[in-house]
Amino acid sequence: MRIAMIGSGYVGLVSGACFADFGHDVHCVDKAADKIEALNAGRIPIYEPGLEELVERNAKAGRLVFSTDIPRAVAEADVVFIAVGTPSRRGDGHADLSYVYSAAREIAASVTGFTVVVTKSTVPVGTGDEVDRIIAETNPKADVTVVSNPEFLREGAAIDDFKRPDRIVVGIENERARPVMEEVYRPLYLNKAPLIFTDRRTSELIKYAANAFLAMKITFINEIADLCEQVGANVQEVAGGIGLDNRIGGKFLHAGPGYGGSCFPKDTLALVKTAQDAGAPIRLIETTVAVNDQRKRLMARKVVAACGGEVRGKTVAILGLTFKPNTDDMRDAPSLAIVQALVDLGAKVKAYDPEGMEHAKGMLPPGVTFADGPYTAAEGADALAIVTEWNQFRALDFRRLKEIMKAPVLIDFRNIYKREEVARHGFTYAGVGRPK
Ligand code: UGA
Repeated sequence: MRIAMIGSGYVGLVSGACFADFGHDVHCVDKAADKIEALNAGRIPIYEPGLEELVERNAKAGRLVFSTDIPRAVAEADVVFIAVGTPSRRGDGHADLSYVYSAAREIAASVTGFTVVVTKSTVPVGTGDEVDRIIAETNPKADVTVVSNPEFLREGAAIDDFKRPDRIVVGIENERARPVMEEVYRPLYLNKAPLIFTDRRTSELIKYAANAFLAMKITFINEIADLCEQVGANVQEVAGGIGLDNRIGGKFLHAGPGYGGSCFPKDTLALVKTAQDAGAPIRLIETTVAVNDQRKRLMARKVVAACGGEVRGKTVAILGLTFKPNTDDMRDAPSLAIVQALVDLGAKVKAYDPEGMEHAKGMLPPGVTFADGPYTAAEGADALAIVTEWNQFRALDFRRLKEIMKAPVLIDFRNIYKREEVARHGFTYAGVGRPK
């Protein structure tokens, strides 16, 4: 198959490299010439484990090429994927579809022969209909069918998720798309990954419903964690106890400082808007969005309490800034709200993150300083807060920390330590939903 990937951002790049690895000929295009130049020089603009090697291997084999030449990529392709951004629109929270629609116009202008156009970007219900309409209007002769094929990749585990998916969802309105999409996913299909065909609107909604459900699951366990703190119960054991029920499932029940990232916050908000506009408001998700937004900032209170009720003039070391480990993505990261709240309360913040500091520098309030490792961050600090559970924070040397910190206080927002093990070194410990 000859595949054109419009948009070489996170989803486009990972999917393009994985499709090339399946043996397809993939042409990834992007309007950002500097990005394409970097990719052609073997530099990957995002941090994703395994991606650099995958890109290099397939580029070397000639199956993966990068350019800014959209017309050529489209003209040569059997399948054109749209993998451009759909950020939240300023002001109303709806998904901004201008990049998707402009891609549709460009595709229409250059398409040759029967071509399947696939939206991989996360798009609200009905977007496929609009893409269809735009293509027909721009080029009435175009022999095109528009398909929805949402992505379920997690940052930091994207390649594994792509190659071992729980399911592949394909929404079609024309049977001619079915064999083409089966061919695109043939290696996974042969490995028995369920390939679900449905109509286009249903497919678009599956993506939002999946992300909203997961965001709700996290928010549920976070509120149970708050209750645990009030009544003296342990949230990890509650999660384990309910998670063993197959109807609930044990995943996405880790209590923490609230969900962040480029997907859950944006997608939950967009679903709320779509549902309100459709006259079928989803109150559970409206509440999820509100609870999670408040939670991030409220988490600073934990630090204040652990510091004896006051952080003014104190130094707080923050370990982990990205919204989760194994990414450099800072979008809607809980650290942003926590650090801002601490600074507002008069604390000095010293931060360290293995991959996210470049991005964080422009996003955290002025006055925040950055360290080059966990111990330099902790030096002279009155408290140490782990906000993101990078592996390198899982085996900290507490003896050393005790010596270099002003006060031995640990706030563990990801519950990666046991109270007893840090207490043994003289540390005061605060986790999430584990008061004892
Ligand atoms: C999420 C979904 O998991 C993917 O399936 C989906 O494809 C993707 O969004 C998307 O729509 O593109 P991602 O945002 O990369 O993936 O990250 P997750 O691993 O889902 O984590 C999201 C947030 O939830 C993080 O802030 C994480 O710390 C938090 N989280 C996750 C918890 O607080 N507790 C959990 O148990 C799990």
